[in-house]
This record gives sequence, structure tokens and C-alpha cells, in this order.
Amino acid sequence: MNRRGQHHYVRVCVTGTRVPVYTCYGETLFVGSFSFCTLFFNFCLFCTSTQQQRCTTYNNTPPILYRATEQGSDRETVRTTVGHLLKSRVRVSVVFHGSMHATFARQAIAHSRSTLGTQYQHVPKVELHRHLEGSVRLTTVLDEAIKHNISLPHGPLGEMTPASQLTLEGIRPHIQSLTPFPNLETLLNIFDYTQSTFHNIDVFHRIAKEAVLDAHEEGIRCLELRYAPCFASMPPNQHAFEDVLDAIEDGIDDAQLMLGGPDSIGVGLLCIGVGAMGTEAMDRTTDFYLQHQDKFVGFDMAGAETNVLEHLKCFQRVKDAGGKITCHASEDLDIGVPENALNAVKHLHAERIGHGIQIISDRQVMDVMRDRHIMLEVSVSSNWLTAGVASIEAHPARNLWTHGIPICPNTDDPGIMGIDLNHEWHLWRHTLGFSENDMTAMTLLALDKSFLPFDARERLHNMYFSDLAKQQDKERNNTFAASVAWANAHHQSQIV
Ligand code: HPA
Ligand code: ZN
Repeated sequence: MNRRGQHHYVRVCVTGTRVPVYTCYGETLFVGSFSFCTLFFNFCLFCTSTQQQRCTTYNNTPPILYRATEQGSDRETVRTTVGHLLKSRVRVSVVFHGSMHATFARQAIAHSRSTLGTQYQHVPKVELHRHLEGSVRLTTVLDEAIKHNISLPHGPLGEMTPASQLTLEGIRPHIQSLTPFPNLETLLNIFDYTQSTFHNIDVFHRIAKEAVLDAHEEGIRCLELRYAPCFASMPPNQHAFEDVLDAIEDGIDDAQLMLGGPDSIGVGLLCIGVGAMGTEAMDRTTDFYLQHQDKFVGFDMAGAETNVLEHLKCFQRVKDAGGKITCHASEDLDIGVPENALNAVKHLHAERIGHGIQIISDRQVMDVMRDRHIMLEVSVSSNWLTAGVASIEAHPARNLWTHGIPICPNTDDPGIMGIDLNHEWHLWRHTLGFSENDMTAMTLLALDKSFLPFDARERLHNMYFSDLAKQQDKERNNTFAASVAWANAHHQSQIV
């Protein structure tokens, strides 16, 4: 049992063969070959509880993803092997529902997201801007829809189709945005389908856990994950804000435990108010944030872009309570005017800006961002898909950087956009022309600007990031402060 009294089972299938082949597929670890699968053992990750179950599901042999050379397939060997797999960072997901559709899970990463940039997987990375609702695996959307009998748009015409007839490829074009939408608001509408599968409170545990596991697999070692309580609790699912937060927290904790502990990947949660839902929704979110401030590292505003000054009072309350603030602003090409980012900094006390790319048309606003050292959380694919920029090549990231503004790469919504952070790194390096040193500097600046507590960031720096700048500057000592100083010096030298 974990500290909240729940068993979390890893499902292990033990077959009758004498040659031990360990296959990690979906949420199930197979010991032996699939065709001979006879028995499951469900091991709780946190205690000695074990369940046995006969296997009636798997008859075909899928690709073997993991082989180990250990001998034997008795219970104890299996238990040891699970431990070994977890330690060696092979992902063995926890089975919550025992659904046969969970076998899609392993394919999710390979099939539902871009594989561009896999060469950066092993570079330690920081991501400051990733939405939980936008990080759901396509396979999880399908799995939850099937489990709870939820219809989704399907096929070329996108007709609402009963759960029993849904396929992964049939729902993909309606759940993911792989080509540009007319604007931000139209793209945000497709989140409704993913959110319609948040039927059961357990889904929040699952999507938070999977989001952290996926980020870790991408090589991210410091992650800020954000979600909007008002979106998560939207009709028809209307969950209590507290229940959703508890489930998300547990999901994050469990993923970190599976990966070896809280420093396997540092994770901070941000609370989002949705400005376009009006002042009542913003007030309710602010009240909720203030009641649970110890569980969040910061506060944000997102959704369709509005005049940020309409929500001045909420941000003042967050600021008065000592909260850290970032704010989506100057994202949309039409309504995301540069003044929005400027006002968010000057009047909403934002220390960072989500996107902020439209300030490129206003030199004075750019100067303010540079002089106040405001980090722009830039998401290149997202800006292209919401028509914030005409093409990836036309993205202003390079001009913002050479103007002296701190920026860093992010995915925004990896599940919805079918990307991951390595895909973004590939675009930054090969389409936008950022050098390896630029990427290193942005990573260290992002760690510096992260809202995670200083001691956590320092530990993460020492564990994962201290060698990055050290390679460029062999003279300096290996402290966090020295890394940030190097990053700033590199950035300054880029200013044209
Ligand atoms: N902007 C505003 N709201 C959002 C976004 C975004 O890019 N992604 C998810 N919610
Ligand atoms: Zn965003």
C-alpha cells in the first residue's frame, strides 16, 4: 500500500516456457512468450500484496521490447526482475483497471507522438510549460472512452461514434491537432473531447502519472506541469476541485516513486485560472489556489486570450500571498497584442510569460522583457498549430533571444499536438538555427527561472545539469550559481 492506503499493482505475466524472455509491453511485463501466457501476478509496488489471475487475453506475440538474461520465472525471480526493470528505468506502468486496452499503452509513445529529435533524449532537459490536459496519451483517451462507454468523433467525417467502434487511427485526427488551426480558440475546442473522457476521478491519477513517466522518458529532469481546475471539473464530469488535485498529486508521487524517488524528476504543479470563463470562475480558482498554495509552485492564466487587466484583482491576491506568477499572454496573432504581456508583467506581477511571441512587433515591449529578465516560455509547434506564426521557419524565437530576452523551449500540449520536447529541440536546433551552447544556456536559465523551490533546483542541478556548461567552461566550479552565470554570459554574447 502507498501512504494513502492504496495498492498499486504492476502486472506481471508468467508463462510456461523455460527460456526467460522479459517483455515490457503496454502496462504488462511478460516473462516468457505471449503465446504461452497462462498466469498473471499483480505485485503491489509498495507492499508485499500479490494477486494471481488467469490470462485469457493475449494470444499473439507482439514485438519484444525488453530482454533480460536472468534465469527462472518463479515468483521471486519475477519480483526481483520488476525491481531491476524499475531501477534500470525500463517503464513498467502500474495497472489500475486491468483493462485489455492497456496493451496499447506502450505503443502510445511510439505511435502517437513524433519521433523527431530522439538524439536529444539523453540530454537532461527542463520544461516549464506543459499542460496536463494537453499531455494525455492518445491511447489513454481511447482506453478511458472504451472503459466508460464515451462516444468520440471518428473516421474521415468525424461522426460521434459509440465507444465499442472506436479505433486509435479513427480518433487521431479529431483528438490531435497535427496541422494548423485557424487560431488559438479553435484549437482549444478540441480539448473538449479529451476532457470528456475524464469521467472517473482515477483518470486524473492516471494522466498525471503517465505525464511524468513520459516526461522522464523524454529526458526531462525538471518539469512544471499545469492544469486548470475549471477545465478538469467541467460538465458532464463536474468533479470536486479537491478530489482532482488529490488524484493528480498521487499520480505524480507514484510516478516519481516508480522512477526511484522525488529527485528522479523534479515536478512542480501550477494552477491555471481560465480568464475567458469570466471573473466568477477566476475568483473560484484563485480561492482554490490560495487554500492549497502549498501544493502548487505557481499560478497562471490561460484559455482563449483576454485582456489580462480584467483579472488584476485575482493576481494581486496571489501576489499578496507570496505566489509565483506566470501568465499566457501575447500568444494569439489577432488578439494577443504585445500590451497583454507588458500588462501581465507590470500589473499582474508575472515573472514569466507563457508564449509572449507577439511582442516581436513592439520593440519597446521587447526592451522591457529584456531589462526585467522576464523568461518567455516558448512553444514553437504550438504557435504554428494555433496560427500564431505563419510557419516554423518564421518563428521569432531567434530574434527574441538575440535581443537579450531569456527564452526556453516547451511543448505546451504534447498529447494534443503529437510531439515531445525532443521534437521541439530538433526544430530549435535544425530549423531555427540555435547552437548546442544556446540550448545548454536556455536549459540552465529555465532551471534558474523555474518556480520549484531553490533547494530542489539545486539538487537537480547537481544530479543532472552540472556537467552541461562545465563542458564549455572547464575553469569554473560546478555550482548552480556558476552554471547560471555561464548561461547568462553565453546569452549576452549572442545579443546583436
Ligand atoms: N494557450 C492557452 N490555453 C491553453 C494552451 C495555450 O497554448 N494550451 C492549453 N491551454
Ligand atoms: Zn499553454
